[in-house]
Amino acid sequence: MVNVQLHPLEVNPKTGEPFLRLRNHRNIILTPPREEDVEACIPLLNDPRVCDWLAGPPYPYTLENSRWWLGIIKAEADAVLQQLEDAKDDPTPITVGHCPVRSLREVQEDGTDIYIGDLGVMRCRHGELMGSGAVDWANKEAFEERNNSIAVGDSSIIWSMGDYLAPSHHRQGIMSDAVSTVLLDWGVPRMNIRHMWVSTFTGNEGSMKVFLKNGFKLIGSYEDCLEVKGKIRGLNLLEWRYE
Ligand SMILES: CC(C)(COP(=O)(O)OP(=O)(O)OC[C@H]1O[C@@H](n2cnc3c(N)ncnc32)[C@H](O)[C@@H]1OP(=O)(O)O)[C@@H](O)C(=O)NCCC(=O)NCCS
Repeated sequence: MVNVQLHPLEVNPKTGEPFLRLRNHRNIILTPPREEDVEACIPLLNDPRVCDWLAGPPYPYTLENSRWWLGIIKAEADAVLQQLEDAKDDPTPITVGHCPVRSLREVQEDGTDIYIGDLGVMRCRHGELMGSGAVDWANKEAFEERNNSIAVGDSSIIWSMGDYLAPSHHRQGIMSDAVSTVLLDWGVPRMNIRHMWVSTFTGNEGSMKVFLKNGFKLIGSYEDCLEVKGKIRGLNLLEWRYE
């Protein structure tokens, strides 16, 4: 019997793996990270159409980097799935602190799937912007610590999202759909997400549009505010509130 705590995740009857199907692109699913993603994500994260727009992953992105990161995100997903398993006899959906599915996969006609990207939800890492308006690097850590210390399920947490998609799948509406699906089908009902901040590098028109189409509002633009992989970049900050 399927654990009701997984709702609205479905379960692959062959593998037992939970997944979330995108609302509109029904052949695209999100699953927990798999060991095989260690290698599958490397070409994507070394492609300038992807990595030039990402602050986090180092460049070049190596197998070692990938193993390290997969270890972190797989542990997060596994922990939530274990919590849901432990609560399986509770008929009321519990509130959790992570989304257990984040690896985007395109399901092929024969039922196999290919890795096409990632959409992660995390607590906001822009403590430098959580002060009174100006960029405040001195208090970045303190603001982030405060946000990180708020209990799971509390509506005052500021959340964030980060994403990338294989260039072969760009501009087909996939990430717009994925953001909406993750936010509305898991983030709001299962994590009690009510407030989000996301940031995009200045000039990242695709990412801006993905968020604007999902009801995010531009609340700040910061020129030349950080150095990433040897380049000075500006940031646009967008906010979403549950209404
Ligand atoms: C940003 C990214 C995730 C967008 O994913 P996507 O699935 O291609 O986006 P969508 O197809 O949902 O596009 C949403 C809108 O943006 C437009 N768009 C997408 N890419 C664009 C680009 N490079 N330039 C201008 N507009 C773009 C689309 O045409 C669409 O507009 P429309 O609804 O008016 O037709 C993808 O381009 C990507 O992986 N980029 C590299 C990594 C990255 O930037 N991640 C985000 C970091 S903040």
